[in-house]
Amino acid sequence: MREATKILVFHLVWFLCIHVPPMFCANMWPDLIQKSKDGGLDVIETYVFWNFHEPVRGQYYFEGRGDLVNFVKLVAAAGLYVHLRIGPYACAEWNYGGFPLWLHFIPGIKFRTDNEPFKAEMQRFTAKIVDMMKQENLYASQGGPIILSQIENEYGNIDKPYGAAGKSYIKWAASMATSLNTGVPWVMCQQPDAPDPMINTCNGFYCDQFTPNSNAKPKMWTENWSGWFLSFGGAMPYRPVEDIAFAVARFYQRGGTFQNYYMYHGGTNFGRTSGGPFISTSYDYDAPIDEYGIIRQPKWGHLRDLHKAIKLCEEALIATDPTITSLGSNLEAAVYKSGTVCAAFLANIGTSDSTANFNGNSYQLPAWSVSILPDCKNVVLNTAKINSASTTSSFITQSLKLKEDGGGALEDSSSEWSWISEPIGISKNDSFSKFGLVEQINTTADKSDYLWYSLSIDFEDDVSAQTVLHIESLGHALHAFINGKLAGSGKGNSGNAKVNVDIPITLVAGKNTIDLLSLTVGLQNYGSFFDTWGAGITGPVTLKGLKNGTTIDLSSQQWTYQIGLQGEDLGLSSGSVGQWNSQSNLPKNQPLTWYKTNFVAPSGNDPVAIDFTGMGKGEAWVNGQSIGRFWPTYVSPNSGCATSCNYRGSYSSSKCLKNCGKPSQTLYHVPRSWLQTDSNTLVLFEESGGDPTQISFATKQIGSLCSHV
Ligand code: GAL
Repeated sequence: MREATKILVFHLVWFLCIHVPPMFCANMWPDLIQKSKDGGLDVIETYVFWNFHEPVRGQYYFEGRGDLVNFVKLVAAAGLYVHLRIGPYACAEWNYGGFPLWLHFIPGIKFRTDNEPFKAEMQRFTAKIVDMMKQENLYASQGGPIILSQIENEYGNIDKPYGAAGKSYIKWAASMATSLNTGVPWVMCQQPDAPDPMINTCNGFYCDQFTPNSNAKPKMWTENWSGWFLSFGGAMPYRPVEDIAFAVARFYQRGGTFQNYYMYHGGTNFGRTSGGPFISTSYDYDAPIDEYGIIRQPKWGHLRDLHKAIKLCEEALIATDPTITSLGSNLEAAVYKSGTVCAAFLANIGTSDSTANFNGNSYQLPAWSVSILPDCKNVVLNTAKINSASTTSSFITQSLKLKEDGGGALEDSSSEWSWISEPIGISKNDSFSKFGLVEQINTTADKSDYLWYSLSIDFEDDVSAQTVLHIESLGHALHAFINGKLAGSGKGNSGNAKVNVDIPITLVAGKNTIDLLSLTVGLQNYGSFFDTWGAGITGPVTLKGLKNGTTIDLSSQQWTYQIGLQGEDLGLSSGSVGQWNSQSNLPKNQPLTWYKTNFVAPSGNDPVAIDFTGMGKGEAWVNGQSIGRFWPTYVSPNSGCATSCNYRGSYSSSKCLKNCGKPSQTLYHVPRSWLQTDSNTLVLFEESGGDPTQISFATKQIGSLCSHV
């Protein structure tokens, strides 16, 4: 046993942790924590999202689902430990990687490098979080549950372009963190050059081959990806539990001490918190506890069984390092033997089943599996054999019940909806004009997804009526209105956010208005210099194919700009202000429409989702709380989904996909705690056109018991 790691390993060997972002609604926390504990976990790992906790510089938000101290205390009350990943850069498919937008506007700032303004802000926020925890005695050094903290996040993956300044930044981050005297270790994930005493840790689908940068540091795995995230326009990734269990067992087989599932529960990106761009509102991640807080089987159960099996080996695991031997081609034994204790892991890392002789006995080793022998003799678990009895859960659709006494669907529910049309083009008095096309994020500071670019142009009588409007945008999507009518739209995708569209339009003689609504769908959260990636219609914008064959470049004209929507300024999302129309002629398939209705929550306690099938794209609020962006019309590609997913062999995020050719996300979680029993208000903003009367509810129910052998 390596002397310096002894105490640490003793504490950490059991720890199979989870990540629960404090973005979730606080009253789901106790149940999620309990389900994690029941699943055999010991530590809960969470990011701390800077932009969530400090939305305006110096104005902090630590209430409700931002109540980090309460979260840490709840974990402690359940008898579990905490790994606090302060960052404060997080990544996490979270808007702007967790950085607040105001940070971008500090003069002279350069993110994540040796830059004084950035370092000052990073230190201030990190110290603020550490102080909050210290004041409540939450570090293990004070008798509290926090056994680890993280500074930065996977900087080593993207540090090259930062050059020498990146190297000195990491040294600074390490000494800054150390100087905060938490009394517990700090980790840096994916940072091979992490300076002492930072522990460099591994993130990935497999980390058995990883070694920390010093013998004095334990081998730790901060992110074992239990599935993968979903993007609007993408198919749904999933990861078979046999492969996850194999990866976990391999890690402990080869001297691992701590592994964390990312995600064990991912939850929902409410509001405009998702990043990407194009990250879906759901952050389900195919995690052992699903988006709705229901255990996902057989994933949860098989991992629980795995955790039990590994814990049966604990005494041997903490007593010594493994002795690794080959048992044949692709067959490997690891033996932890010290005095009278002995535990063994027998792995078949090939893709065909095999038999191995070990200690004079013969063992069947299915392909891509590990057998765990807590006494070096009897197999208590093989990672490829799922034994846990399991349940399934599924959605039950219910019509949107609009009235207490209505009982189900109304014949014509149109009358129950009211609406307000969002003006096309400039309507607010804080609009401004400028020659040329502007970059969007620097203009809106992300106060809204929306930026209007408006132009009025005069044409002589002899102008050709038919022409093509060519628009180039850095992303992420746009709608073009000509003379007050939607003429066309364009969108990027998670691989390339840029939009490049040719929209056939009809101009009239005299004055014409071109109103372009550009929108962001979550800001970039990953990559070198990701904070400087732009968005919006930076051009060129041209009119092509005019009568005399010419092209007019409109890019450097004087454009008028409006940040956000009139309805956003008015606060229509609450449902309690605004002149809502409620005549019988409910507009359907009309762009830029706000809709409102009242509804009765589905009875019972099952988790609730709204099915937005029938709608186009927009954002929705229940009782004033944003449940996120909806985009059921963004359909995933037809191909790429395997008919079945073979867990044998290396996994990658595109190996196992489902839902090809279907909308990426139709169901949107409404936390029960946001609902009142009698009447609730649902407000939607629809950008492109939809029919709100098609909206329905779904409740997620636990179904029949079935057994996997
Ligand atoms: C990691 C990152 C996480 C998350 C994950 C993908 O690289 O550290 O924050 O973004 O990828 O879900």
